[in-house]
Amino acid sequence: MADIGLTGLGTMGAALALNIAEKGFSVAVHNRSRERTDALVEGAGDLAANLTPLDDLAEFATALTAPRLIVMMVPAGAAVDAVIEALLPRLDEGDTLIDAGNADFNDTRRREAALAQKGFGFVGMGVSGGEDGARHGPSIMVGGPEASYERLGPIVEAIAARYQGAPCAAWLGPDGAGHFVKTVHNGIEYADMQMIAEVWGLLRAAGRAPKAAAELFAEWDEGPLRSYLIEITAKVLAAADTETGEPLIDVILDVAGQKGTGRWTVIEALKLGQSASAIEAAVGARSWSSEVAARRLGEDRLGAGEASPRAILDGDLEKALLAARIIGYSQGLTLLARASAEFDWSLDLARIAEIWRAGCIIRSALLDDIAHAARDGLAQNHLILAPYFADRLAETVPALRRVVASAICSGDPVPALAAALSFYDTMRRARGTADLIQGQRDYFGRHGFQRRDRDGEGFHGPWAD
Ligand code: 6PG
Repeated sequence: MADIGLTGLGTMGAALALNIAEKGFSVAVHNRSRERTDALVEGAGDLAANLTPLDDLAEFATALTAPRLIVMMVPAGAAVDAVIEALLPRLDEGDTLIDAGNADFNDTRRREAALAQKGFGFVGMGVSGGEDGARHGPSIMVGGPEASYERLGPIVEAIAARYQGAPCAAWLGPDGAGHFVKTVHNGIEYADMQMIAEVWGLLRAAGRAPKAAAELFAEWDEGPLRSYLIEITAKVLAAADTETGEPLIDVILDVAGQKGTGRWTVIEALKLGQSASAIEAAVGARSWSSEVAARRLGEDRLGAGEASPRAILDGDLEKALLAARIIGYSQGLTLLARASAEFDWSLDLARIAEIWRAGCIIRSALLDDIAHAARDGLAQNHLILAPYFADRLAETVPALRRVVASAICSGDPVPALAAALSFYDTMRRARGTADLIQGQRDYFGRHGFQRRDRDGEGFHGPWAD
């Protein structure tokens, strides 16, 4: 009898199955089409001994130890519902289905509630780290009934990445908590990738060749920016196209795809009355990237106006990126805190930062410091207000300000860096400009306002008309 089942043997599913098998668990593997199952087992070498290939769902279900644990690694949306439907008649009360794909947490909440009524467990499990992570150690964010973690926990903790020996996997909260945390992880990933790309754009505009930029990123990867995304940026920029010998970056079309997790982050932020503006800017920038024809027309028609010559800001770029990265993480964590309050999840932000320290795409040198700051409690749920990070920002924001100002004056787009800076500048003022918004709202709609000099609400201005 197999310890666990896994259905959906695409890139991530196959890698996860091999990882589980390697850690000594027996896995029943299933895929809609038999070829992938065969390919997995044929390529598994010694690990094949721990894999039981089955192409019939009924046999797949009977091959599993009770109560069953079944991991589904299929595309988000209708495919997940279809697999659940197909599996349900073969399950017994107490069995648990685990959706290990990137799912909209609203779907996860719905599925968890529906399956709970029927006596089944449903776990939404975010797995980060790409194919290599899934195979050799991802970061794993688990949500769903806590009881499900009793049997699932030892398996996910065995296959997860390790940070100083501690597994980067944890049960984070009920129903959709795991998938929500994974979604926000991806939102932060979008912001970080976009900010890095903007810095590359500034270097390129200033005439820096990809190879030289690659060296700069590799150097930064030795300092406070050390992270997986900086490391792979250096590698991407250093790569040559095998067909033309040109720098690969000059061959790749500047159109970025997106499967939805960044967009989900922004949608949920807005629904919670938040604005994760650096993440929003990154999602927007990916959308604009697809408007190639409009951008080509724009290059002919839209002038920069009185653009200043580009300043060379090499010394500032590293610090600017660090400041913006801190702000991106901060917006993500605030969103987690707000969602936790809204859905009653009691998310432990420090634990989340801890399991992001290795295995996942946003792993970086900063995360250990973030975990410490979160452990001390974040004032008003803002990482930027933690004394340690306020100090880091005081050291780095001047560089971000110079970089953004220079980019704006020279006409180079930096939507995520600028959004991060504007958020920071908004948050460091006790008095903002919403007084005027309230005056306007009261003027045209008698919406009323609060006063600075006394309590209460519903005050009105002396509008004659
Ligand atoms: C990870 C990645 C992974 C994946 C997403 C994002 O944490 O391992 O975030 O989930 O790359 O599919 O893809 P998009 O960029 O297409 O949204």
